[in-house]
Amino acid sequence: MDKNQILDYLKTSDEAKLAQLWEKADRLRKQYVGDGVHLRGLIEISNYCCRSCHYCGLRREHEDIQRYRMPDDEIIECAQMAAEYGYGTVVIQAGEDFGITAARIAKIVETIKTQTPLAVTLSLGERGDDELKLWRGSGADRYLLRFETSDPDLYKKIHPQRAQTISDRIAIIRKLQELGYEAGSGVMIGIPGQTYETLANDLLLFKELDLDMVGVGPYIAHPDTPLGQMPLPDSPQQPRPTELMTYKMIALIRILCPEANIPSTTALATINKATGREFGLQRGANVVMPNMTPRKYRALYEIYPSKACIDETAQQCRHCLRGRIESIGRHIAAGPGSRTRRSKLNPSNANTNPIPLF
Ligand code: 5AD
Ligand code: FES
Repeated sequence: MDKNQILDYLKTSDEAKLAQLWEKADRLRKQYVGDGVHLRGLIEISNYCCRSCHYCGLRREHEDIQRYRMPDDEIIECAQMAAEYGYGTVVIQAGEDFGITAARIAKIVETIKTQTPLAVTLSLGERGDDELKLWRGSGADRYLLRFETSDPDLYKKIHPQRAQTISDRIAIIRKLQELGYEAGSGVMIGIPGQTYETLANDLLLFKELDLDMVGVGPYIAHPDTPLGQMPLPDSPQQPRPTELMTYKMIALIRILCPEANIPSTTALATINKATGREFGLQRGANVVMPNMTPRKYRALYEIYPSKACIDETAQQCRHCLRGRIESIGRHIAAGPGSRTRRSKLNPSNANTNPIPLF
């Protein structure tokens, strides 16, 4: 699919064209990653952040929130619960919090890897090569770092750099791949100042980076952030942060990166709490990330307002998701759910991809 075709889909409201897009994405999803839906238990271990991203409720300048850091034993307990629930992966996420030392993260990863069969994904922001190397050495399998937008000017506007360090997320993603991590990235949809062209470039960059995981969700304005106070430009070039745009992006990701693991994200579930997750799964996605963060901390991890699953327990999310997945004729997949390389499910392409399975 070339850029003009991508732009055409991003802009269309033609029902027949959309139906064809959903059908193609769902067919490729089935062909490349099957009907199993992988569950990744999300543990939000700290809401401290040293950054000032203009869109995010955890930015350091946001003084109205109570900050927390989970103790190590609580983190390990959550991971053990994820394993008992039959989840294949835990995702350890935090703001960019240098108050948790790299050695402490390494120890947590090592403990989870020795005590459980889980794959461990880290999502801890822009970190140095040494830290990434240390964590990979202690057993971390995957790392998530969204590049947020492929437009360098828009990125600079909404993402002030930290001290003198230049923020180059693409370079970090390449480093992660070099270190042997499965690398995940993604963008927000409908950021003020974004254009359809930006989204098309984002999609082409996902493909170029050969990502193992691609997560996207609608931008949700947080009133206590600088970007949250900015109205969406009234320009025909400005995509809206809607459900429809999110489904289009998910479907196009599946078409461009057919082997990737694609989550039906919490941000999508937030703008359509009733059926957003299910529609995401029917239009290209094959992963969901149930929240495992202990309830006392959940509401404090407020990246954006009215986040889905703020009042539910890990147990409730587990039941809820099983029901939702089964209601659309899919099932919960067993195992860690690493990226399925082409040769695995699609025999016609066997042996064409020299990259080994993880
Ligand atoms: N709306 C939607 N998504 C957001 N994120 C951060 N702030 C917002 C917001 N206001 C996303 C970013 C980040 C991920 C953890 O959450 O893409 O990488
Ligand atoms: Fe949390 Fe449905 S996934 S309540």
